[in-house]
Amino acid sequence: MIPTLLGGMTAKEFLRDYWQKKPLLIRGAIPGFGDWLNRDSTLAMACSDETEARLIANDDGDWEVRRGPFAAKDFKRRKDLWTVLVQGVNLTLPQGDALLREFDFIPHARLDDLMVSFAVDGAGVGPHFDNYDVFLLQGMGKRHWHISGQRDQRLRDDVPLKILSNFKSEQDWVLEPGDMLYLPPQYAHDGIAVDDCMTWSIGFRAPPAQELMEGFLSYLQERTVLQGRYSDPDLKLQKHPAEIGNAMIDQVADILAEIKWNRGVIRDFLGTYLTEPKPHVYFEPPENPLTFARFVAQAKKRGLKLNPKTQLLFAGNIFYINGEECAAEPADKAILRSLADSHTLPAGSALTDDGWDLLHAWYCDGFLCV
Ligand code: SIN
Ligand code: CO
Repeated sequence: MIPTLLGGMTAKEFLRDYWQKKPLLIRGAIPGFGDWLNRDSTLAMACSDETEARLIANDDGDWEVRRGPFAAKDFKRRKDLWTVLVQGVNLTLPQGDALLREFDFIPHARLDDLMVSFAVDGAGVGPHFDNYDVFLLQGMGKRHWHISGQRDQRLRDDVPLKILSNFKSEQDWVLEPGDMLYLPPQYAHDGIAVDDCMTWSIGFRAPPAQELMEGFLSYLQERTVLQGRYSDPDLKLQKHPAEIGNAMIDQVADILAEIKWNRGVIRDFLGTYLTEPKPHVYFEPPENPLTFARFVAQAKKRGLKLNPKTQLLFAGNIFYINGEECAAEPADKAILRSLADSHTLPAGSALTDDGWDLLHAWYCDGFLCV
């Protein structure tokens, strides 16, 4: 971690005192930060159909929200105050992926993505709150942030985006390149660009209970097979033929009681759910893949890296990669764990044949880069 990232505080202190608790302003979190992207390169990303982008414009109180991909002309000769927000910048910009690694003091399972916004002087997306933790890192230009711990979360119902009806600023700062503001979930904020301005948002995810339940039930359904069928050889004459009798309810309750899960199933569900690629993320297998022998020789000589789009998590001996589950040989566990942690496999790594087989299969799927 860059020593200045948390303003001289250790990650342990940050987690204890600020994470999910209160905002933190860090001046000079990443000194000299800000020139990996500029107006043109950000707008070019917003025009690509591989990225998820939004345009939010405010024309004297009339708000407009549009989804990308955009055409270059969408950003020309505009007279309103506009912001373009590009999600998943870590998937295509190598420095963006490296930037996320600086936040490794938070588990990868909590990380969502890196969003970059470009705003013209005076623009902003309006006072709002987000449901996730975010580090707002100032790139080019400056942004005047107002924040509030207000309880009132009522939203305006006359605009096409989430804007608080009664935002009451409690603190404000002008952030300069390299400054960073951490906000816990639901903390109200409003950032106005001072000059053309770029903000890098390192966002975390915290799935709603409802989403976890829906994901879990569909995971369970795909893996559960119940034998038998409803039967009633002892059927008794019913007074009301339209009544669903107790015996029927009891029997169905017994059938459904056969749906079983344990911590292992929950772990595997989480692993596949958390590593499932987002809908617009695709992997391209290498055009002329190296043979197994050449792949191993090259990986031993030069090491390898995860494709920045790859999500690799583990629990015990089980590895979860892009929605798939793989058991690893105990002898390979330490090296694969370190690949999952650091996203790189150093040159000279020694795996079992099964371990290399697994990596070669991942490479052929486009999950790894040699
Ligand atoms: C922005 O970058 O314009 C908005 C970021 C945020 O408020 O979460
Ligand atoms: Co926000």
